[in-house]
Amino acid sequence: MSNVAQASKDGHHLNSEGELGGGTYRIAEIGGDGIGPEVTDEARECMNVAAELYGFDLQFEKFDLGADHFLATGELIDETTLMNLRGHDAILLGAVGDPRVESGVLEKGLILKIRSAFVQAVNVRPARLIPGVISPIRKLTPERFNVVVIRENTEGMYAGGGSLAHRGTPWAVAVQQSINTNLAVSRTVRFAFELAARRRNHVTLCHKTNVLTDAGRIWLDAFDEVAIGYPDVSHNYLHVDACCVHLLERPEQFDVIVTENLFGDILSDLTAGIQGGLGLAPSGNINLTGEAPSMFEPVHGSAPDIVGTGRAHPGGAIFAGAMLLGHLGEVDAACSIEQALVSVLGSQGGPGKGGTHRSTHEIGQMTIDEMRRHGDASEWDMSGFSVTAISSSVSSIE
Ligand code: NAD
Ligand code: IPM
Ligand code: MN
Repeated sequence: MSNVAQASKDGHHLNSEGELGGGTYRIAEIGGDGIGPEVTDEARECMNVAAELYGFDLQFEKFDLGADHFLATGELIDETTLMNLRGHDAILLGAVGDPRVESGVLEKGLILKIRSAFVQAVNVRPARLIPGVISPIRKLTPERFNVVVIRENTEGMYAGGGSLAHRGTPWAVAVQQSINTNLAVSRTVRFAFELAARRRNHVTLCHKTNVLTDAGRIWLDAFDEVAIGYPDVSHNYLHVDACCVHLLERPEQFDVIVTENLFGDILSDLTAGIQGGLGLAPSGNINLTGEAPSMFEPVHGSAPDIVGTGRAHPGGAIFAGAMLLGHLGEVDAACSIEQALVSVLGSQGGPGKGGTHRSTHEIGQMTIDEMRRHGDASEWDMSGFSVTAISSSVSSIE
């Protein structure tokens, strides 16, 4: 525990009262669409219990954003709402995306808008095999799978450059540009090395330098230059296609994977799948300077195919809630949530094969029961590779 606690003490995250821990934090909650609100409800309740157990206050403010709001008002997010969000210590997001709205409108207008407006420069996506959860990779054991994908979070194809001309004609033409600046690439790579230095000291750069030679060059140059400053961190390069097969066949070779935005999106669904289900994967969109809030969310989307069935697994959202608290410096609280859920998964299995069919709410409640039963999180062994350790390490990187 002590290394984790130390990491948070060294961090810069003061709450809205200007204190480190023990005070009041203002959390913006955007449930969003589909299963988003179903899973954030459970995450919020776990966080509230953690706050009660560890002596601080959480003030949640719900933001009604997403498809319903858009269909009713024609608005995605206005400047006043963005300003209001900015005043919070952190954001908890469920998911956005709705079959009633054209693909991309909500995703770009809300998630990408917030990530870029608040310069959430890197997206931290941990995945590990938790004992009791069955991976689709036969015979995978927990010691062999514990990775973090560090995804550049503001650029690449996601920067929005491009055009579509002559739509609906046989001569329609679309251009989608990938933007890669040294500033954004270098800060992402440096972040990956810093995180690896707090873990198992290895970074893999993943790209497609054999075809995307210009973007690839800027990534390789930054990677080589940053690596010089970290002589104790070993590093290698893999093309993204090969990286996928390496993840499936030799996952133990990976510690931190750093990559551009689109590859990171895809690879983090793969790592989520390997860990036993998309429903279990959390992520943190991190503002590195502290001048705007960071945002925590499950990796999955709004899952319209299971909305309202009670079958959405809240694990990713609950782990994201733990990451949020770890990032704010409430490490024991984060640890309590994480270990309670790990224990529930140990007895119930994960969302996929071999898991019991508990409802979203049942899993949330079981996690809370486990938190209350254990009491003192400081007795748990966090051993440095959990989402709590990652998020509190991350808060010391800025
Ligand atoms: P998805 O992640 O919503 O779902 C993919 C599959 O995983 C579905 O079969 C779904 O039922 C399952 N799944 C997802 N989360 C689960 C959970 N918690 N428990 C159990 N099963 C779960 O991806 P999709 O179907 O490609 O996209 C649906 C919508 O979500 C689209 O509008 C998409 O743009 C959006 N989306 C949003 C985010 C986000 O908000 N961060 C992420 C991905 C997709
Ligand atoms: C994710 C999602 C988003 C992304 C979409 C919804 C904008 O897939 O968070 O992984 O591509 O980043
Ligand atoms: Mn995704």
